[in-house]
Parts: sequence; C-alpha cells; structure tokens
Amino acid sequence: MTADGKVSGIRARMADEVGDARLFDLAVSRARSHVAAGADKPPFPSPHAIAALTGFREPLPETPGDGAAIVDRLDRIGGPAAVNHLGGRYFGFVVGGVVPAAQAARQLADAWDQNAALHVLSPVTAALEEVTEGWLRALFRLPSETVAGFVSGSSMAIFCALAAARHRLLARQGWDDNEDGLAGSPGIRIVTSRQIHGTILKGLALLGLGKRSIEWVDCDDQGRILADRVPELDERTLLILQAGNVNSGSFDDFATLCARAREAGAWVHVDGAFGLWVAASDRLGHLLDGAELATSWSADAHKTLNAPYESGIVLCRDREALAGAMQASGSYILYSERRDGMLYTPEMSRRARAVDVWAALKYLGRSGLGELVDGFHALTCRMRDRLANAGFTILNDVAFNQLLVACADDAETEAVLTRIQASGVCWVGGARFRERAVIRFSVCSWATTPDDIDASAAAFVEALTAVRGRVAAE
Ligand SMILES: Cc1ncc(COP(=O)(O)O)c(C=O)c1O
Repeated sequence: MTADGKVSGIRARMADEVGDARLFDLAVSRARSHVAAGADKPPFPSPHAIAALTGFREPLPETPGDGAAIVDRLDRIGGPAAVNHLGGRYFGFVVGGVVPAAQAARQLADAWDQNAALHVLSPVTAALEEVTEGWLRALFRLPSETVAGFVSGSSMAIFCALAAARHRLLARQGWDDNEDGLAGSPGIRIVTSRQIHGTILKGLALLGLGKRSIEWVDCDDQGRILADRVPELDERTLLILQAGNVNSGSFDDFATLCARAREAGAWVHVDGAFGLWVAASDRLGHLLDGAELATSWSADAHKTLNAPYESGIVLCRDREALAGAMQASGSYILYSERRDGMLYTPEMSRRARAVDVWAALKYLGRSGLGELVDGFHALTCRMRDRLANAGFTILNDVAFNQLLVACADDAETEAVLTRIQASGVCWVGGARFRERAVIRFSVCSWATTPDDIDASAAAFVEALTAVRGRVAAE
C-alpha cells in the first residue's frame, strides 16, 4: 500500500487485470475457438502434442507473470493436448459430451467464484441447488422427501450414499458411528453383485467396511445381479444395485429386489452413474421400474446429461441419515433455515456445481434429454449392426449405450484395439468381460452422428483386416 492509500505491487497488477478486458476476452475467444474446433479434431491428441507438454515444465516462477501470457501459454501448449470429448468420436470409458449452454453457464458461474457450502456463502447457488433438486426428483420419479447433494462425480456420490447407509444401519442397532467409530460396532451386512463398479468397493473401503465381509451375488451373462441368488435381507443390510453396468450397460432387476428389500427394511443403493438418466426416455424408462423404491441413488451429470466435468449427484430419501453422515460442526458455521448444501456433501467449500446441472436440464428439458438418451441407444444399435455384419462378435444385448466387441481371440482383440486407437478416427478402450478381452464402445455425447458411427465402424473393419493381413503374412 502506498502512502496515499493506493495498492501497489502484485495487488496493483491484479487490480489492473480485473479492469483489463483483454485478459478475459482472450480466455473467452480461445475457449470459443477450442469448442468450435472440436468437431474436426481427432478424439485423442497427437504424440507430438503430448510431447510438447514438457513446455509446462519450469521452475517455480520467482516473479509475477502476465495474465494474458499465462492464458496464451495454457491454450498453446495445453489445448492441442486436450482429449477431445467435444467431437462425436470419443467412445472410451463412459464420457459425456458437453451441452453448450451448460458449458457457457459454467463459465459465467466460474466468474462469480461462489462457495456453495452454505446459504449465507452463496444464496444464488443455494437457490439453484433447491430448484435442481426438485427437478431431479421429478425426472427420476423419486419420493418428495428425497434430498440431493452436488458432488464431484459418482465416486463421491456413492461414498456419500454408503456413508448415509452405514450411519442409518448402525443407528438402528443403537450404535453412533460419528461418536464411537467402527471398532466394536455391531457391523452391517453388505450384499452386492460380482460386477459392481470399482468405485463402490472404493467407497466401502474408505468407510472402513472393506471387501471381505461382502456377500457376493453372481450375475447373468449380461452382468445383472441374479435376483434369485440374493440372500435373505434384513434391517441391517445394505443392498447395492446398478442402473447401467459399466461394461455391458445392463440394469439390475429393481422391481423384484427393491420391493424385497423394502419389505425386509434393508437399505438399497442404486449406482446410476450414466443409467439413471434413461428416466427421461419413454422407450427406455422402463429399465428403472422399481428403482424409485430404493433408499439412495447416485448419478453423474457429466456423463449422459452432458454437463461439464466434474459433476455428480447423491440422492437420498433419508435426509437425516445423509446429513448425519456428512455432519460438520464449528461455532463459525452458520446453518440457516434455508438450503445449506454442505449438509449433503463431504466437502465444505465447493464450487457452484448445481449451476451446470441446472443449465443442462433447463436447456434440454425432459424431452431434449429423452431425445439424447434415445439417440445414444439408436447409435449404439447402429454400431452393433455394422460390426456384427462385418464379422465381429458382440457380447452384450444393447440395453442402452454400451457395446462390447470381441474378435477371434484375445490377442486379435487387443491388436485391433491398439490399431483403432492409433487410427485417429475414433477412440475406444478395452476391458475384460466374461473372461474375454473386449473393446468397449460407449455412446455418450450429443455430438455423435450416424456418420461418426459409420466412420468408426469402418475404422474397426480396417483395423481387423490389417491385423489379419499382418498375421497371414507372418
Ligand atoms: C456405473 C458407474 N459407477 C461409478 C462410476 C464412477 O464415476 P466417476 O468417474 O464420476 O466417479 C462410473 C464411471 O464410469 C460408472 O460407470
């Protein structure tokens, strides 16, 4: 601070940056160019672009930099190395595209720099969380007492739901995990399928529940839990089901199992990372029949809904259990009569994630989301037909948006996968399913067109032909 009360040094520089339209205009115009180029760029960055990331390696700067130069550097070195989820040919993992309006809304909300922990820290985020929570209840047809926590993704949403379940199931047995921890607790039963997602196991491990005590249930050939093998359930049981097997995309039999669990007083969690959104489709919504009877649900907004990363949601009909598990106290924490988001999340400070979900839902509406869901399904079926006709083996029934493809044997499947990845036409990943190497194909972006599918199918065929030609020549 100078003698006349003006700021100096780094603070003066930053005050100038705030007033300098060039900095933010530069970021916005580079962002716009990046998004616009998405349709034409290969799905995976070139080896050259990845090698150029060494350009970021430098010692900690000793002196202040220049804002515009920093944005420029980020764009020049980072932009070309970004994996391209914005085009229509990224089919790896389960990775959604981005609804432009949600991406733009997020940019604006990022400029607000809100802290979503408490109503008093961000009334606007609290209001949007409340509205979005209601919309999600309506979309997924969940009971009116259901509350939502806005977290980073399904891993965290699952963690929250399992923590709530642990809290409730132990409380029923007269045990307070917040006060007494787990040592010496009466314990809970955990029942789930052998094909449950790894983040469930991670969540259980983080919660001190571990894997050893899980009562594992076998699956059918599509990866659905075998309902008639599920053991007797009771009031101290946590049953974990899935709406969308990460490989096959199959949905568990909620109608049978949620009804049984309800009768027994068990807690049911449904991992619906990408599958819960089929609720918006008149054609596929039936896959969720009975799921509304569960106790908690988790979903990713950054997958099927095509909200920007990172955005997941935990939904729980037992508000007291979720808030009890996520409890945080401190004399300075000002809970209010209004919505305080941190009641339902493990974090205290959080960015205004609900903005992304709100904007995507506001833009798409139920019918737009239904159109996306039906489109993903139709395009996945198109790919299935193209590949089946070309001699590939299809290992799953297309329930929603996942396709599992195999060649003659594991070595051939892996060689074909490597060749497709190197083709630059589309990007797919691998996995193992029913003890076979498979190529996973996941349609999750609004940007994918029938032409993208046909070009990708052609890349599969080209890769298979080349691999077989090479083997024949050897
Ligand atoms: C069924 C399922 N559950 C959980 C997850 C984990 O989600 P996230 O990566 O958002 O933590 C995924 C990710 O693909 C998934 O498909």
